Amino acid sequence: MTASSPTPLTSDDDWWRSAVVYQVYVRSFADSDGDGTGDLQGIRERLPYLRELGVDALWLTPFYTSPMIDGGYDVADYRDVDPMFGTLTDFDAMIGDAHTLGLRIIVDLVPNHTSSAHPWFTAALAAAPGSPERERYLFADGKGEQGELPPNDWESIFGGPAWTRMPDGQWYLHLFDPAQPDLNWRHPEVRAEFSDVLRFWLDRGVDGFRIDVAHGMIKAEGLPDVGFSTMTTGQRQVELLGKGRLPYFDQDEVHDIYRAWRPILDSYPGGRMAVAEAWAETPQRLARYIGPDELHQAFSFDFLDATWSADSFRKVIDSALAESTIVGAPTTWVLSNHDKQRHVTRYGDGEVGLRRARAATLLMLALPGCAYLYQGEELGLPEVLDLPDELRQDPAFLRTGESRDGCRVPIPWSGELAPYGFGPAGSELSWLPAPATWQTLSVAAQAGVPGSTLELYRAALRIRHAHPALTAGAGGVVWLETEPGVLAFSRALDGAVLTCVVNVSGAPALIDGYGQPAVASEELTVRGSGHLLPVDAAAWFERR
Ligand code: NOJ
Ligand code: MG
Repeated sequence: MTASSPTPLTSDDDWWRSAVVYQVYVRSFADSDGDGTGDLQGIRERLPYLRELGVDALWLTPFYTSPMIDGGYDVADYRDVDPMFGTLTDFDAMIGDAHTLGLRIIVDLVPNHTSSAHPWFTAALAAAPGSPERERYLFADGKGEQGELPPNDWESIFGGPAWTRMPDGQWYLHLFDPAQPDLNWRHPEVRAEFSDVLRFWLDRGVDGFRIDVAHGMIKAEGLPDVGFSTMTTGQRQVELLGKGRLPYFDQDEVHDIYRAWRPILDSYPGGRMAVAEAWAETPQRLARYIGPDELHQAFSFDFLDATWSADSFRKVIDSALAESTIVGAPTTWVLSNHDKQRHVTRYGDGEVGLRRARAATLLMLALPGCAYLYQGEELGLPEVLDLPDELRQDPAFLRTGESRDGCRVPIPWSGELAPYGFGPAGSELSWLPAPATWQTLSVAAQAGVPGSTLELYRAALRIRHAHPALTAGAGGVVWLETEPGVLAFSRALDGAVLTCVVNVSGAPALIDGYGQPAVASEELTVRGSGHLLPVDAAAWFERR
């Protein structure tokens, strides 16, 4: 048996240590005005649903003014709402209602790059090479006799070179789309601007920030080559993400930025926090982003990437717990988001995928720390794999053939026909079409139906909030001896014990001695004094 140390006690300022955060992909959540695009007013109208689901906070993907080349991760004005999503007044009304309902709001901050439509970039384009306007971005002269070759061999995460040449001959860096020029974070104006943007949203009452590409803002001095490229080896540089070091990611100096941001967050009351979307070579390097003087959380993408096996889950859970314990931060679990294939589909799709997804959710929600849910996972939505190519909007699709649109299809709320209540009554528009099979997956189709995925999530979240052994102050994970392929661990507080068992083996498992079942992802069968846990299922047992 091994145990990790208990997570620290929760006070209100520490809400994020054990919170369940629901990620809203704004464009696809709820459309209040019938234009086929989700909006802030749509979120506002659905807040009671989220309250009833039992989450503590929402993370909203970017809703700022944007040409929407990369779904809003190309921001043209960091202090305003894009008209397609509403207005600042709508934002204020939405956050006001959320707070009244006890829901906190986390917004997305995109500091690595702006949109090419941002006034700073249009000014840089209008100005000459070497001008102060260009200093805020990463402009460089090319290689080759006429400067006709890019300044180095860096590749865009979305495919192709990370450099685009201007008519005047200079190149600019974009680690993502050419419409997302990278900022020069060694420039004091860039730093001052983002401190101010943080304050702008903190003043409006936001409870936290999700930091986009948190590992990317500082590039190695001298912009050195990676040394290989897709052209030379067939291996894409991005394949090193989370596995190796690249001169444009996870540079030590990036931590100075977070050490400057933390006092800003701490100067506001109520526990304002930040979560890093960071990719680092090792869990140790990832843990450097979190702690009392940097960010509060960093997603454990190793957990998301773990394959359906007891060893794989146990390994990533142990290493994430160990690292976060050292830095005194909570572990941050996530199974799906707007960039990754939905976990129902990752785990095998169809019935098997859904069973495993439901089981993995019970596993995640029993672990210490914070858990992030992605909209629609509470309905068991699969990835939509057969979207017509011409409807796909992910900028990566054209260059790599990979598209993230299949996890961004609008949420089915009710009714018989697509888009299933996504918009107001009678509206037939949705920016991506929902599959004809989603009628049975809608909120209305699942609400109140015993055994539905929605009711499973509601039950698990209810227990997570009420059970002493699942609170932030409860003990850490204690692994229990089991037969091969069965994962079991307990957490405890003051004699109350909750045991989570996941059957990853190929046969039903007899579970005995952990107390009464509290919730199960599939039906349990009584067997003697214990229960049979079916294949690809998980259950929580409690003893008080
Ligand atoms: C990560 C975001 O989650 C993703 O959607 C986006 O394309 C990139 N960062 C670039 O901002
Ligand atoms: Mg709308």
